[in-house]
Amino acid sequence: MTIATAHARPNIALIKYWGKRDEVLMLPQTGSLSMTLDILPTTTTVELTPAHEVDTFILGGTTASQVETERVTRFLDLVRELAGSTTRATVRSRNEAPTAAGMASSAAGFAALAAAASAAYGLELDSRALSRLARRGSGSAARSVIDGFAVWHAGVDDETSFAEAVEAPPMRLVSVAVNAPRKKVSSRDAMRHTALTSPFHSAWVDSTARDLEEMQAACRAQDFTRIGELTESNALRMHAVTQSAQPAIRYLLPESIAVFNAVQELRDGGLEAYATADAGPHVFVLSQPEDASAVSDALASLGEVRIAGPGLGVRIEGQGTSTQ
Ligand code: PMV
Repeated sequence: MTIATAHARPNIALIKYWGKRDEVLMLPQTGSLSMTLDILPTTTTVELTPAHEVDTFILGGTTASQVETERVTRFLDLVRELAGSTTRATVRSRNEAPTAAGMASSAAGFAALAAAASAAYGLELDSRALSRLARRGSGSAARSVIDGFAVWHAGVDDETSFAEAVEAPPMRLVSVAVNAPRKKVSSRDAMRHTALTSPFHSAWVDSTARDLEEMQAACRAQDFTRIGELTESNALRMHAVTQSAQPAIRYLLPESIAVFNAVQELRDGGLEAYATADAGPHVFVLSQPEDASAVSDALASLGEVRIAGPGLGVRIEGQGTSTQ
């Protein structure tokens, strides 16, 4: 194959990944657990271009910046190494999620790129190998390869650090996109900075490892209340540890805190909902399917709301031989 297109969707971690034990292999310090969403897909086409001397990256119809293109080239180099190829490629990618604003567009982006590039270069990777490859682009992309709920095992090396599906009860995530500017610190830099400067970082790592164990038990037991409690407390701890770095990194804005407060009020009023947020100001609210519309209506004045269910992992949508 010399051209392939893949679709992938964002995932939101209920137990977060925040800290690497190996920055080259992208091995996390702890495992994490997420829901792949059925909204905001990314579509990526990789076409081999033997006549070109460099890779080209077109994002949302415009040529991407040098930094973005270099990141894609570094990723394609991994695929080329596996495939024994030196051929350059043109990558065209479109995502519906606002890029770099904590809507997990990099997870969908690298999951789609991993699938499209490996198909275009003629590799046949199973889900585990694809998850390991996507992880090298952006850690959380390892989980967007998987349908529905995924646990990403921290592992001890490249082979053992991958995501796979876990059973969980039916749930929805209501995304509340607050009106906010583009984020300034990438999660990659922020993770490194937190690990180096926060006196709380080791407590975060220890407590997250315990949270993941408990979350997997709660998923097996279909215990929505415990899943929700763990989701919200793990997210607040992640934001606490970033704020305890020196200098502090704050992703949550007053608008985000207002959503966390409103969710607490919903719970006090008997509607079960739990909030989480990634490395950005937007908030995602976990509920049971039958409560999702009520949660979404209650939060609509605080941001742009969308209800997401569990979505498909990465899929190849087309492949063939190009005319290049
Ligand atoms: O995969 P990255 O480098 O975009 O990091 C993702 C970090 C969080 O989204 C904040 C947490 C997570 O587990 O997805």
